Amino acid sequence: MGIPQKYPHLDQMQPWNDRLHLLECLSVIEEAPNVKTFTFRSDNQNWFRYEPGQFMTFELGTQPDAVLRTYTLSSSPSRPFTIAITVKAQDGSIGTRWMLDHLTPGARLKAFGPLGDFSISKHPGEKYLFISAGSGITPMMSMTRWMQDCAPQSDISFVSCARRPSDIIFRKELEYLTSCMPNLKLSFLIKEHEMGQLWTGIRGRLEAPKLSLLSPDFKERTIFCCGPDGFMRDVRAMLEESGFDMANYHQESFGSAAEPVLPVMDDISTEVSETAAIVTFSMAGKDVHCVAGDTILKAARGAGIRIAAACESGLCGTCKVMKISGNVDMNHNGGILDEEIDEGYILACCSKPLGNVEVEA
Ligand code: FES
Repeated sequence: MGIPQKYPHLDQMQPWNDRLHLLECLSVIEEAPNVKTFTFRSDNQNWFRYEPGQFMTFELGTQPDAVLRTYTLSSSPSRPFTIAITVKAQDGSIGTRWMLDHLTPGARLKAFGPLGDFSISKHPGEKYLFISAGSGITPMMSMTRWMQDCAPQSDISFVSCARRPSDIIFRKELEYLTSCMPNLKLSFLIKEHEMGQLWTGIRGRLEAPKLSLLSPDFKERTIFCCGPDGFMRDVRAMLEESGFDMANYHQESFGSAAEPVLPVMDDISTEVSETAAIVTFSMAGKDVHCVAGDTILKAARGAGIRIAAACESGLCGTCKVMKISGNVDMNHNGGILDEEIDEGYILACCSKPLGNVEVEA
């Protein structure tokens, strides 16, 4: 992968489009044990448009089958030529482990998105409290980097929890940011002592007295929280108990949010007598009979037609396909933009045919 001969200006480039373009890995950086940052550019000199804190779904080339995994972006849209994810391989991880062991600069991947509501642009506040644990720090990093570039006076109290000092992700960069963002207050909370590491900061679990110490005015802040499910459950309970206005609390899960994924045949009935609609898959050249209540994704799987899907609940946008004709009843959860619906796209996992339908798949 060489240095590009020509660097186009932003106004000469088109936005990256998950239906048309791939991602090309540009660099891999070790951040902490089992944690790496992967930075990508478009394979076609595009720029990236997203909100700080959003996520993307990646198709990873694990063997024997590819898997889909969803990761929040750690990069900021204020630096639009590349995107980055920072991932941690947990015990038993398949997709993330594959990334850490096999994904190198020059590799190309299919990805879907970016999407998601976990963003300061969707939930703006006067001042913020970011609470993260482990790799849950990634969306907070995206938002902090964005504010460094676009709103450096922002008032942020940032509490990052980690098992050991060496597990703190982005520690050096965050410490540097406190010198150029006057209202960024940074706190690290460590669970375990680590041989050879001097730690004079706070230890233990994040509990109400500690939170009051680290962020005395936390009840006046808009809170974003991301980490393992148990961690977020505890934070939520602690805030509820303290009388915090939960309308100002937002949380995001990460890691195994989107488990596998690539299609398997399931129990769709293709009996013509039960047919409620015919779904025509134009690229596969197949007409599939489906019964009332079946989704387009289910009809595709029943006929052995591959449509990538991750969340299967209308959230991640992975299963987006173009509807060529007919009508569907689509109940999504934010995984598709209004403009995309206007263009004719639907999410196969949450769209049920209303009569005969033709889709591009
Ligand atoms: S699989 Fe996530 S929106 Fe359909």
